[in-house]
Amino acid sequence: RIVYLNGAFLPFEEARLPIMERGFLFADGIYEVSAVLDGRLVDNAAHLARLDRSLAEIGIANPYDAGEWERLETELVARNALSEGLVYMQVTRGVHERDFAFPPADTAPTVVMFTQAKNVSRNPLAEKGAAVVTVEDLRWKRRDIKSVALLAQVLAKQAAAEAGVAEAWMHEDGFVTEGSSSTAFIITGDGEIVTRPLSTALLPGITRAAVLRLAEEAGLRLSERPFSVEEAKGAQEAFYTSASSFVMPVVSIDGRTLGDGRPGPLTRRLRDLYLEMAR
Ligand code: PDD
Repeated sequence: RIVYLNGAFLPFEEARLPIMERGFLFADGIYEVSAVLDGRLVDNAAHLARLDRSLAEIGIANPYDAGEWERLETELVARNALSEGLVYMQVTRGVHERDFAFPPADTAPTVVMFTQAKNVSRNPLAEKGAAVVTVEDLRWKRRDIKSVALLAQVLAKQAAAEAGVAEAWMHEDGFVTEGSSSTAFIITGDGEIVTRPLSTALLPGITRAAVLRLAEEAGLRLSERPFSVEEAKGAQEAFYTSASSFVMPVVSIDGRTLGDGRPGPLTRRLRDLYLEMAR
């Protein structure tokens, strides 16, 4: 397994970081995850644009332009002979003696990249549909930044794991914000596809944007509006989206079965449209 660290491609075992690394001490950094399908990056330009924005929002200079990022990702995918899975990219504020405020301006950021093999397109869970549980959203107020500070999401996903389900949907003031690592969608009884509008309360999902585009092109009805946990539990269909799951059908929420308990027809159509686009 080959990983990327600060300009070098290295065997996994040789990639080491000092304990004064600010990602480790303060979660002072951001990350991105792009899918790989048939050895090619999916919707990668949009992921790199969000990476650039996340860095700008926390005042870290982007070490590479989009072309260089893509070249490095492509080389990493090739070196690992990855045909399907994920590329993980992380940039932190670098290594310096522990102090909360930013280190000197000439401190080099830490750049890490690795790949993970994963069956994203033929995931058996997508055939069966996922169950989700709901948990309170415990996160900070800038969820639009893809920060590596993920403790609330770790706790949410663990709650899902302990409930024996794949994902947790987080809620605030009775409304679903998003999944612990995905964007939440519901489909109402009259066929309206609903997802929360973008704001600082959630991550602007790249898969979300693609699905909205595909749904619009297919002439499906869309509504970007907040929806409550109660509304979700009474929805006809539901699904969540992410680079690591594409379009994942949801068949129950907190033990309440949606529709007939199988992936719904509109959800399956959106998953197929997404897979077609991704290839
Ligand atoms: N997570 N919301 C949150 C909180 C996320 O962490 C993610 C992605 C998404 C979906 O975004 P996108 O469609 O751009 O992947 C929404 C990645 C996959 C992760 O943390 O592994």
